[in-house]
Amino acid sequence: MNILIVDDHEANLYLLESLLNGNGHQVMSAPDGKQALDIVQTGDIDLIITDILMPVMDGFQLCRKIKNDPDLAAIPLIFYTATYTGPQDEAFAFKIGADRFIVKPCEPDVLITAVNEVLASAQKKQGKVSGPALEEEEAYKLYSERLVTKLEQKMLEAEQEIEARKKAETDLRKSQAQLIQARKMESVGRLAGGMAHDYNNMINVIMGFAELALGKISPKDPLYGDIQEIIRAARRTSDMTRKLLTFARRQKFSPHVLDLNETIEGMRKMLDQVTGKDIQLAWHPKPGLWDIFMDPSQIDQVLLNLCVNAKDAVDPAGRVVVETDNTHLDAQFCSLHPGFSPGDFVTLTVTDDGCGMDAQTRERIFEPFYTTKAPEKGTGLGLATVYGIVKQNHGFIQVTSAPQQGTRFILYLPRHIKTAAMSD
Ligand SMILES: Nc1ncnc2c1ncn2[C@@H]1O[C@H](COP(=O)(O)OP(=O)(O)OP(=O)(O)O)[C@@H](O)[C@H]1O
Ligand SMILES: [Mg+2]
Repeated sequence: MNILIVDDHEANLYLLESLLNGNGHQVMSAPDGKQALDIVQTGDIDLIITDILMPVMDGFQLCRKIKNDPDLAAIPLIFYTATYTGPQDEAFAFKIGADRFIVKPCEPDVLITAVNEVLASAQKKQGKVSGPALEEEEAYKLYSERLVTKLEQKMLEAEQEIEARKKAETDLRKSQAQLIQARKMESVGRLAGGMAHDYNNMINVIMGFAELALGKISPKDPLYGDIQEIIRAARRTSDMTRKLLTFARRQKFSPHVLDLNETIEGMRKMLDQVTGKDIQLAWHPKPGLWDIFMDPSQIDQVLLNLCVNAKDAVDPAGRVVVETDNTHLDAQFCSLHPGFSPGDFVTLTVTDDGCGMDAQTRERIFEPFYTTKAPEKGTGLGLATVYGIVKQNHGFIQVTSAPQQGTRFILYLPRHIKTAAMSD
């Protein structure tokens, strides 16, 4: 049999053509109703299978033209469409003379059965057709309704597609930026680590000779004070190189199984002193906190740096909250946060209601020597050491902050499980 298929998507035409050819039919195709009508008028067509939404002339208009033309009305017509907006579509299609209404996608057998049934039924009628079931005016009204509904649905689908594409692009850009940042930190770490190692050796030589010289002269000697200054400066530099080595994860450490709550409890007096009496320091330990496996002196360094920064941010007065918790990171969280891996973590959170940071500052805070403070106030090594320590312990850091909105640092430290039998 000769079948005309009408669809504006080439891929749809190709699929349908292959299916019908495979079942012994001759197939012609048209990309819209207008060209289909031209073919029907000149050719010997036994069946039309048409989509609905198409440019120039849609499927409904094509069906009306065929069924209102006494020479063509006997040709059976099947609607085969993906934009199904409700049973009214089907009802309207039958009212204007369609023989079948099939919603895409459908199984090939179902489609072929429908084609064979419609062809058989048309042969039985032998060209006899009943007149149009609809007056022109009513048909036009129903047609407009159906078309508006379909176009609305198409627009909604297009909007959703644009939204999804935009989101995918933003996610991609975000993870690329995070990857670049992580690589940058890696190379800065290697460079800083190498330099710090050599500097440390030289500083030890400077300090050693300065101390020797100091031992050889009397405290009344005019050079005594100068040499003391050399030693003081060398000690400060030595302290900086140690921090750089920590950032580069080249500092030796001896981890133990730790209860983070206990470690922090032991630091409270010192933290109170650091923050001062005008700053309210709240401590919320999570009962039943999981163990971690870390060097306690590293916890001291991390918490001290975060609390000093928080204090500087809320200066002169404000609130700083330190809390701990148990957290599970799942695959979905990690897909939204590049660089994170799933698992159980103990979190250490430090929140302040201070000055906060803008996006540019937030991006650079872990770089060594990045500081927004006056030279005598900050060296920009505090968060670099926090970063190095957390990375050395296979953890992650999350920062949320905005100008005048405060800052929150969440440190994810891997849970330590002694034996499988002891895990819960
Ligand atoms: N809690 C915070 N609120 C607002 N800004 C912060 C906070 N913590 C860090 N920052 C910003 O990050 C920068 C880097 O912090 P980092 O601790 O590395 O260095 P620093 O505090 O400037 O100097 P250092 O810690 O070496 O004395 C700070 O200068 C500040 O701009
Ligand atoms: Mg600091």
